[in-house]
Amino acid sequence: MGFEKSVIKTMGKRQSIRNYDTKEITETDYKLISDFISNEENLFPPFGKTGGIQVVQVTNNVTDKGIKLGTYGFIKNPRAYLVGSTENNKYSLVEFGYAFHKVVLYLTELEIGTCWMGGTFNRKSFEKEITLHEGHFIPCATPLGYAKDKQRLFDKTLRKVVKADNKKSWDKLFYDGSFEMTLTKEKADYLEVPIEMVRIGPSASNKQPWRLVLSEDRVTCHFYIEHTPNYNKLGYNMQLLDMGIAMCQFDLACKELDVEGKWAIDDPNLELLNEHTEYIYSWSVK
Ligand SMILES: Cc1cc2nc3c(=O)[nH]c(=O)nc-3n(C[C@H](O)[C@H](O)[C@H](O)COP(=O)(O)O)c2cc1C
Repeated sequence: MGFEKSVIKTMGKRQSIRNYDTKEITETDYKLISDFISNEENLFPPFGKTGGIQVVQVTNNVTDKGIKLGTYGFIKNPRAYLVGSTENNKYSLVEFGYAFHKVVLYLTELEIGTCWMGGTFNRKSFEKEITLHEGHFIPCATPLGYAKDKQRLFDKTLRKVVKADNKKSWDKLFYDGSFEMTLTKEKADYLEVPIEMVRIGPSASNKQPWRLVLSEDRVTCHFYIEHTPNYNKLGYNMQLLDMGIAMCQFDLACKELDVEGKWAIDDPNLELLNEHTEYIYSWSVK
């Protein structure tokens, strides 16, 4: 069970899918998905249990219970949804983002389309459908299904609006030793590919809020967020999920390259980029 193909290649292939084929998800694929998400050993390391993930099947957006799950027209023909739940605090959101993204990558490997959603779904209708633990809320969901060959004009337009194919370059995201110097690919050394995987990852409205500082001795990589001002409108900080996604892309790439490392919250107290920047986590090679 678990990943069988190169996860680095899978990260290169993944893109948000909003238009699905009407073909049902096969029994074999459902079984693989449910085995993957019910295996906590597989899902939650390295941070421990950070939330819940449930699958909900739909026909014409209506569930078995007869509940209509709304996505405001953003998603066409999904066959199911994966719905996440966790607590509304900084580290739960970061660590849950990591876990949920691991599932997204596994689904991509199975050639099942996904689209991280934090905003364009009707939270009330999803809340009715799943079993929500005390103190949990739904920070994200993704539709599931096989991608329709031809993406709709709507999807193409949306990709342009959020500049989905416009990923920031290294010098806008990654720093060398401190925030005073930018990091080049050549200087990233053995971490070039893991850092590149951070760059190509998905983020809410494609804002790419992650900022990394690689220590001078190349042992530690510090993960920071540069919050987008006024983005926090839905009662939780969606961009913290983006941080978990970045950490997942980085970590799984390291694992594939046999670079062993560990995560710690150990703020080096560097001078920050600006008032919107906040320290999140550090990864160090073992
Ligand atoms: C935390 C998070 C929330 C998102 N919320 C939505 C959403 O509500 N609706 C939507 O259509 N896309 C949403 N997206 C998808 C992004 O727009 C998309 O990842 C980004 O534009 C980059 O495109 P790509 O995923 O194809 O690389 C979200 C992505 C993330 C990571």
